[in-house]
Amino acid sequence: MDDKRAQWGSKFGFILAAAGSAVGLGNIWKFPGKAFEGGGGAFLLMYLLIVPLIGMPAMLSELSIGRASQSNVVDAFGKLGHKGYGWTGWMGWAVAFIITCYYSHVGGWVLRYVFSYAIESQKVYADPLGYFYGMLGYDPAAEATFMPWLVLLFALIFMAICAFVIIKGVEDGIERFNKVGMPALFLILIVLFVRAATLPGAMEGLRYMLSLDMAKVTPQTFLIALSQAFYSLSLGMSIMVTYGSYLPKSEDIAKNTFLVCTMDTLVAVIAGFIVVPAVFATLGPDGVGKGGGFAFVSLAGVFEHMPGGAFFGFLFYLLLLFAALTSSVSLIEGIVAFLIERKGWKRTPTTLVTCGVMFLIGCLYTCSQAAFPLKGIWFDFANGVTFPPLCDAMEFLTDRIMIPLGALGCCVFVGWSWKPESAIAEVERCGVRFRLAKAFGFLIKFVAPAAVILILCVSLFTGTTLS
Ligand code: TRP
Repeated sequence: MDDKRAQWGSKFGFILAAAGSAVGLGNIWKFPGKAFEGGGGAFLLMYLLIVPLIGMPAMLSELSIGRASQSNVVDAFGKLGHKGYGWTGWMGWAVAFIITCYYSHVGGWVLRYVFSYAIESQKVYADPLGYFYGMLGYDPAAEATFMPWLVLLFALIFMAICAFVIIKGVEDGIERFNKVGMPALFLILIVLFVRAATLPGAMEGLRYMLSLDMAKVTPQTFLIALSQAFYSLSLGMSIMVTYGSYLPKSEDIAKNTFLVCTMDTLVAVIAGFIVVPAVFATLGPDGVGKGGGFAFVSLAGVFEHMPGGAFFGFLFYLLLLFAALTSSVSLIEGIVAFLIERKGWKRTPTTLVTCGVMFLIGCLYTCSQAAFPLKGIWFDFANGVTFPPLCDAMEFLTDRIMIPLGALGCCVFVGWSWKPESAIAEVERCGVRFRLAKAFGFLIKFVAPAAVILILCVSLFTGTTLS
């Protein structure tokens, strides 16, 4: 690994790994909540426009930068002759770091739910919301808070598994995970969709997801859809640069981009069509507050009304755990690969120390969900300085500011400095002509940067959060 850059073991390996990186908690835990917040149909429409017009060109750019430079995130731009873009790589590195802090903790919640369905599904069904809060250190009945030791332990276990995979290296670890997990997750999602959609009361939720509420077509919803798309596709933090650098020259990047983006979007949309109707069916339209607990809480209603529900619940969370693991492994791989190459540090201690630090910071995230009123700080021109819960502030900072900026950096780099022609040449190295080259050039030069800048600015001035 140190003398020669690692490469994916098989043709299929990369697609699986990239899809494994993309498909994760973002699709199943975040997407449905955002779709609900963003008015259902309105959000869905924006999302489905953003993925092909901005997401795909951005992913193609990151992959080609990686493969052309054969380098880690931070040095990639310099190797291609444009040191000035180093900040994009640095920021990508920083975002991956912050995200992993909380991602690994939500992974811990998922691990907790694997056990919950295995041993105490009745408890989950009896009071889904209370159970979720209880996990996070808040007892609604007694209105008391406590230190959520158990779930922190689960998060630690989750992080330890990731560290183990990372230490074992790229091919063995990441590839093996994805081969079985991904298709299985997809199958179970289809089963859950059928069950959720046929629950009494679910129709209203389906209608919500399919109707266009014009009042929700606002810059804020656009920002949320844009940031969700980048997040879900693992863009904007140059992770795909790292992955691209492991890709053999014979691979067709354009085709891979298309496949990965399509799979990821499909999973997110299906998850939206499971969770949102389930919320309507079980808790009513305003049943759950938005955000964190959405998918955890509402799915209990689906499993409860399903033959073998506890088993399906167990299986679902187990597969979600796989999805979360592959994503988080890919995040950490980006962070660690950089430290190893740049600083010449050893793989094992570097992984252990970074994972340890990220776990500790993540504890603040989990504890600020419900147990302790830890606050972060936030600013936009419409609302001035505000103090949202720390967990929200962390997600706002990464999703709504840093990721879009990181993605913008890559788009501008490819569109204006390195030039689309170089990216196209890199794509065509596999020997296949890139038929959408013209469209790609136009999107990456004009459409993607303009859209990101516009959405960011308008949102900063009119409010970055939905009221
Ligand atoms: N895409 C992942 C998900 O949907 C999360 C994620 C965001 C990610 N950025 C990433 C994963 C970078 C790996 C690398 O859950």
